[in-house]
Amino acid sequence: MQRGYAPFLYFVAVLGLEAAMQKECRIIEALQNKLTYQQRLQYMKHYFPINYTVNVQFEEVLRVANITRLRDRNVGELSLRFLWLSVNSQVLLKIRAVLLEKHPAWEYTRDLCLLFDQLAEEYENCNQGNVDTNVWDVVEQVLSGDAGSSRKAVRPKALLDNCAKVMWMLPFACWDSCPPLMFPVP
Ligand SMILES: *[C@@H]1O[C@H](CO)[C@@H](O)[C@H](O)[C@H]1NC(C)=O
Ligand SMILES: *[C@@H]1O[C@H](CO)[C@@H](O)[C@H](O)[C@H]1NC(C)=O
Repeated sequence: MQRGYAPFLYFVAVLGLEAAMQKECRIIEALQNKLTYQQRLQYMKHYFPINYTVNVQFEEVLRVANITRLRDRNVGELSLRFLWLSVNSQVLLKIRAVLLEKHPAWEYTRDLCLLFDQLAEEYENCNQGNVDTNVWDVVEQVLSGDAGSSRKAVRPKALLDNCAKVMWMLPFACWDSCPPLMFPVP
């Protein structure tokens, strides 16, 4: 390699990283704006029949306590973000599966799915090599929708509450410049 080239490459790499962080930041901000308490209440509770539940796998119920436990076991932050992203992408598909196109929560859940798809692109480099083994196994289990896995009936709002609360405890690229709108989450 020619001398003088390395700093240039470094500069390009930093710019690339910066751009990726800004993109992640925009997506997370958009998710924050969509996952407010008011919207979760309206779209995931008021628009559903009383006590309506969706069947999900046990692993799809990803609560704050799960993340705390995984952190106690020294699972890295990248793995935790990847877990949250993978689990909630599936959760959204399950909620969407029970909605007709004319349902008032149709567009809301579609927008959320699009944002999760965009975020997944940012994490497509996540692989077995850089993700915690246990987390990787859980993600595979969730993605395969394995029939052997236990099911649980959970209210849609509870699922999105988990999604929002866990999001607010993960260190996304932009929390420095756009800290969570509200914390603690109601
Ligand atoms: C909804 O669930 C609550 C308890 O979780 C129960 O008291 C109530 O009767 C249920 N309502 C209906 C309409 O099933
Ligand atoms: C979260 O914790 C519950 C037990 O509280 C467990 O059943 C579930 O599998 C955990 N989920 C993940 C994704 O680790």
